[in-house]
Amino acid sequence: MKINEIRGGMKKEVTINNLSDLTGAAKELLNIDSDSKIFAFFGEMGAGKTTFIKAICKELDVKDEVSSPTFAIINEYLANNSEPVYHFDFYRIKDEREALDIGLEEYLYSENYCFIEWPEKILNLLPENFIKVNITVEGEKRLISLK
Ligand SMILES: Nc1ncnc2c1ncn2[C@@H]1O[C@H](COP(=O)(O)OP(=O)(O)OP(=O)(O)O)[C@@H](O)[C@H]1O
Ligand SMILES: [Mg+2]
Repeated sequence: MKINEIRGGMKKEVTINNLSDLTGAAKELLNIDSDSKIFAFFGEMGAGKTTFIKAICKELDVKDEVSSPTFAIINEYLANNSEPVYHFDFYRIKDEREALDIGLEEYLYSENYCFIEWPEKILNLLPENFIKVNITVEGEKRLISLK
């Protein structure tokens, strides 16, 4: 795992060489210097968004099974300290209305962790200071940038 810190820790780039690097990357993400607990995961299909969110939930001591909420749109887990953690997948929604209908705004303003796959679909609904997580595939490696 290689970590590049840019501008005093506000932006980080983590190179993932294999799945075991994801634990370290998850720790970096959770330690990022930000007031926001809303993380938007950008990356093509199969880039590793769900896999990375699983690793992050493990660091948060989530005991529930973490899986892609593709059909449910949202999964709610409990972290060890009994705080809810919200995991969204907006791939299949038709429009923003559908996201509003499931109560997205209440989740976003709950101050609990929100991990969002396919945030492209609901960009207009996100508050200003969410954390952008970009996953790009480079051969066998993944480059994860946080800003
Ligand atoms: N860091 C990684 N290194 C190697 N393989 C990975 C990594 N992350 C994910 N994979 C593998 O890539 C495949 C797709 O991962 P995943 O389901 O997490 O992608 P996704 O971005 O959530 O896809 P989708 O857009 O369909 O939701 C899985 O088989 C997973 O094991
Ligand atoms: Mg996924």
